[in-house]
Amino acid sequence: MAESEPEKKPATEDTEPKPEAESAPESAKGSPLSGTRGWLLLAAVVVGAGLLVFASGKHLQDIGKVGENLVKATKSTGKATIGGPFELTDHNGKTVTDKTFAGKYTLVYFGYTYCPDVCPTGLTEMSNTLDILGPDAEKIVPIFISVDPARDTPEQLREYASYFHPRLVGMSGTPEQVAAVAKAYRVYFAKVESKDPDADPDDYSVDHSAVTYLMDPDGEFAQHFSHGTDAETMAKRIKEILNP
Ligand code: NI
Repeated sequence: MAESEPEKKPATEDTEPKPEAESAPESAKGSPLSGTRGWLLLAAVVVGAGLLVFASGKHLQDIGKVGENLVKATKSTGKATIGGPFELTDHNGKTVTDKTFAGKYTLVYFGYTYCPDVCPTGLTEMSNTLDILGPDAEKIVPIFISVDPARDTPEQLREYASYFHPRLVGMSGTPEQVAAVAKAYRVYFAKVESKDPDADPDDYSVDHSAVTYLMDPDGEFAQHFSHGTDAETMAKRIKEILNP
C-alpha cells in the first residue's frame, strides 16, 4: 500500500480515481451500511484511509506509474499535459519564464536544498547524465526548481546548484508562482512540520515528487524519468530524442 498509494496522488487532481462506491461488494447489502448513505459513508472511509496512507508516506520518490499514464495520454491526444507557462526567479535573482528557455531542451527537477537524500541523488544522476551526453548536453539547460521558497533564496540555490553541475540553474519564486509551476508539471509537494514542539520553526521537511522531466525546445513535454533511473539509462533515452 505504502508504495502504490502515494503514486496516485501527485498532482493528478483531474485523474484521481473516484471512490469505489459503484463497485463496492454486494455483501454490504442489507447491512447497516446499505443505501446511499451507507455507500457515501463507505466511500468516505475509503478516501479517508487512502489519505492517511498517503499522508504517512515520506518522500514521494516515484510517480512513475502516474507518469506512464500521462505519457500515454499525451501521446494519444497529441496534447501536452505537463508543462506550460511559468514565471520564477533564478539563482542570480533574474526573472525567468518558460520563454527564457525557448529553443533549448530543459531537464527539470523539483525539490528543495534542505532535502536530505532524494534531491541530492536525483541531481547527481542528472549531472552524470549531462556528463555522459557530452556535446549533446549543450542542447540542454538543467533546471532545479525549489518548492521551498521560504528557505531557498537565490543565494542558497546558487551555491547548492554549483555542487551538482556548473550549468545547473536553480530557481524558485513566490509561493503562488511555485504552486503554479508545480501544478503545471503535476508535481506534488507539501511542507511537513517537525513533530518536536521545541523544534525551530525553520526545521521542517518538504515531501515532493521526484521526477525528472525532459522538455523539448518548444517547451513541450518530451520524456519523464522516475526517481532511481540511472544516468546511463537517462542519457541513452535523451540521445535518442535529441538525435532522432
Ligand atoms: Ni528532495
